[in-house]
Amino acid sequence: MSPETGFAVVGLGMGKHHCKAIASAPGARLVAVCDVDTKRLDPVAEEYGCKAYQDFTELLQDAEVDVINIATPSGMHAEMGVRAAAAGKHLIVEKPADIVPERIDTLIAAGKRCNVKIGGIFQSRLNPLNIRIREAIAGGRLGTVVGAHGHLPWYRKQSYYEGEHGSWKGTWDMDGGGSLMNQGVHTVDLMQWLVGPVEAVMGMFGVFTHDIEAEDQTVALLRFRCGAIGTLFTTTCCYPGYDQIVNIYGSQGSILKQEGLLRGWKLQDDMEGKEEEEMLGYYGGQKKGGSGSADPMAVGFDGHTQIVEDMVKALAEDRDPMITLDSARHAVEIITAIYESGRSGREIKVGSV
Ligand SMILES: NC(=O)c1ccc[n+]([C@@H]2O[C@H](COP(=O)([O-])OP(=O)(O)OC[C@H]3O[C@@H](n4cnc5c(N)ncnc54)[C@H](O)[C@@H]3O)[C@@H](O)[C@H]2O)c1
Repeated sequence: MSPETGFAVVGLGMGKHHCKAIASAPGARLVAVCDVDTKRLDPVAEEYGCKAYQDFTELLQDAEVDVINIATPSGMHAEMGVRAAAAGKHLIVEKPADIVPERIDTLIAAGKRCNVKIGGIFQSRLNPLNIRIREAIAGGRLGTVVGAHGHLPWYRKQSYYEGEHGSWKGTWDMDGGGSLMNQGVHTVDLMQWLVGPVEAVMGMFGVFTHDIEAEDQTVALLRFRCGAIGTLFTTTCCYPGYDQIVNIYGSQGSILKQEGLLRGWKLQDDMEGKEEEEMLGYYGGQKKGGSGSADPMAVGFDGHTQIVEDMVKALAEDRDPMITLDSARHAVEIITAIYESGRSGREIKVGSV
């Protein structure tokens, strides 16, 4: 038996990043890849010298596979995950864990019943700057947090929504929405991870510049359990060039960031501004590397590598993975509530949809 944990990846769009991540994670070995599309499957299997399965059911029977990374269209995640759990496979599930909160619950229950570990993917939670911001908020350094505001002025070409691998995007039944559920879910998760759970939302959405079913622009008001209120704006319509913005405002401090870069760190307890200078020196500056603002494949795979490595350790130490599905679920609950509000024109309590 190999001392390394055997991984397989199903779905070879974003799944190609998973392959790279597995290949570079200590203790992990890419055993197999799976995709219904042989044009994607064969070159990846060849590149990594691993087994190729066109049929997910056959992959589930491979005894060398300990963990399956699910990177298929979002509306398939829970159903495939439940089948994999029943076959005794541990799982890493791409964001969103699924597009319906109750389906995520079914997957969580299957994981418990079948005694397999299931981790989610929100790589923003692993970003060192985001960790520093979360610590500052949790340590009370912002005083009363009054507002949390997220902007995602992104761009996708019409062709992104078309063709063999595009037509599920921007649909309700497979993508669970559009700019908010697909692209914006990271921003929603980051905001709730930094500031805490969201209790109620009001939203508006529509289709503005693409020929798609669901939405390519959404705005929402959020009421957080901690008392803060906030705004959220996601789109794939904006002329390209701008990145995600997340700003958190409090009575004793405010923190502003743009993608991976710090734009403001003003805290009352940093009286001489030394920490501000240090933080801006370290996390400010100019953007290095790409972001997903106009190119979906421009996201790095470092976060995925850490998530794979964490799964290897979680199995060795028999503990939960660092991003549990329980914690990944709330973002989907918030998003489905925003859509329900947009449809009904009412404020919606999160968790009531
Ligand atoms: N973490 C991130 O930053 C990030 C970035 C992009 C996409 N994603 C997520 O990754 C997932 C996939 O997105 P994508 O953009 O790569 O989509 P995609 O359509 O490019 O890739 C999905 C792949 O799944 C394959 N597939 C579909 N049904 C299958 C089946 N039954 N068995 C085997 N293979 C099957 C398709 O042939 C396709 O190659 C989505 O859930 C998306 O939200 C995450």
